[in-house]
Amino acid sequence: MVVLNGVNLDVLDRRDPALYGGLSLSELETRIYEWGSQLGCHVRCRQTNSEGEYVEWCHDALDWADGVIVNPGAWTHYSYAIRDALEVAALPAIEVHLSDIEGREEWRRRSVIRDVCAGVVQGRGLEGYREALELLRTSLAGGR
Ligand code: DQA
Repeated sequence: MVVLNGVNLDVLDRRDPALYGGLSLSELETRIYEWGSQLGCHVRCRQTNSEGEYVEWCHDALDWADGVIVNPGAWTHYSYAIRDALEVAALPAIEVHLSDIEGREEWRRRSVIRDVCAGVVQGRGLEGYREALELLRTSLAGGR
């Protein structure tokens, strides 16, 4: 499995702690790796601020990953390029957001990637990534 964090998630610890929990990206990734090994999943985390690179990582995930967990940050709301790249990858994908995007500004309520994702976890903070790992693992096992 690959966890793809997108734009501005590298500076998570400098963003509003009320929304994002005040943790750093490396703290987040450490927890994801711990949860991955507890769940028996081989997990790799990547982050970029380049939309093109994110698109390429969606493409090449097909070569080595069995599923993807995506938090594209603000790209979630407008990047048809990332939406299409996830469609091309044709891997089970779970969308995750630390904050509750549906309870925030109008423009954040729309996700253009939702229709190509098998599930979504939002507003659960750090814990949301563990739930996303579990959802993806269930989906890969053919469960519901
Ligand atoms: C986010 C929500 C987005 O609206 C925002 O632009 C982010 C982070 C989240 O994890 O809550 O950068 O994806």
